[in-house]
Amino acid sequence: MPEHLISIADLEEGQLESILELAQELDARPQAHRDALRGRSIGLYFEKSSTRTRVSFGAGMAQLGGQPIFLSSRDLQIGRGETIADTARVLSRYVNLIMLRTFEHRTVVEMAEHATVPVINGLTDELHPCQALADLMTVRQEFGGLRGRRIAYIGDGNNVAHSLMIACARAGVDFSIASPPGYEVAGKYLDLAGELAAGTGAGIETGTDPRAAAAGADAVYSDVWTSMGQEQEREQRLADFDGYTVDDDLMSRASDDAIYLHCLPCHRGEEVTASVVDGPRSRVFDQAENRMHTQKAVMLRLLDRA
Ligand code: CP
Ligand code: NVA
Repeated sequence: MPEHLISIADLEEGQLESILELAQELDARPQAHRDALRGRSIGLYFEKSSTRTRVSFGAGMAQLGGQPIFLSSRDLQIGRGETIADTARVLSRYVNLIMLRTFEHRTVVEMAEHATVPVINGLTDELHPCQALADLMTVRQEFGGLRGRRIAYIGDGNNVAHSLMIACARAGVDFSIASPPGYEVAGKYLDLAGELAAGTGAGIETGTDPRAAAAGADAVYSDVWTSMGQEQEREQRLADFDGYTVDDDLMSRASDDAIYLHCLPCHRGEEVTASVVDGPRSRVFDQAENRMHTQKAVMLRLLDRA
């Protein structure tokens, strides 16, 4: 395993597969692992709001016998100017793992550079690797495997899209994304996905047409049009993303047994209709549950306890 989980690209293909295997085992037999992290703790630091990341890490650590410690940027001395580097060094003397959710990606990188315990990226403006693990677990659960499947992502080329694209490339899953002009995935992550895909045979396609992206896909995925920190762009984005709503018509273009995914929280009537997210093809709450199983697997692996 890598020392930290900052990006899915930190994981080799076998390591990614093995985390998903372990997550499945943790889902099936949680009691068998209830003492695995007894006496250990994780610091959970948030600059942004969170429901799933906060509670799934907290409950997951408790289920493994360990202790979560919730930290917010408002409470820590970081808010009064203490450096990330000093905070990393100090937290490392108290806790066994650090998870953080930040605006700037380099804050997480800096924490990892100075921490002497494993650091987990719980979302930055650029990446959301923990989400992508749960996404792949959900597809794997549904179809019994990943290879040869295709995920279509409709909307903003954001943190969730970046990590999902990288995860698909790493796992050998085909990925097609349709984004409005100006909202494409970042070139550096597209290049990275291309390099990883060359090793696994995954097909990575970008474009602007949601119908073309969704055609024949096994899973259709959307995320909010306005991410945390972009609230002042909301009106412009509502206009720019017109036509990118995942609705029943778009789902009908996917494969007959296609599922719908969303990292949540969602906005019904914007990136997805209520009929889709609340409909029979939606797996969004299984996906949310899988955050916990996959993150338990990550914590165990980073601490070399499973
Ligand atoms: N999907 C996700 O990360 O949710 P939260 O923002 O609630 O943690
Ligand atoms: N793209 C969203 C994901 C939230 C889990 C955001 O960054 O706000």
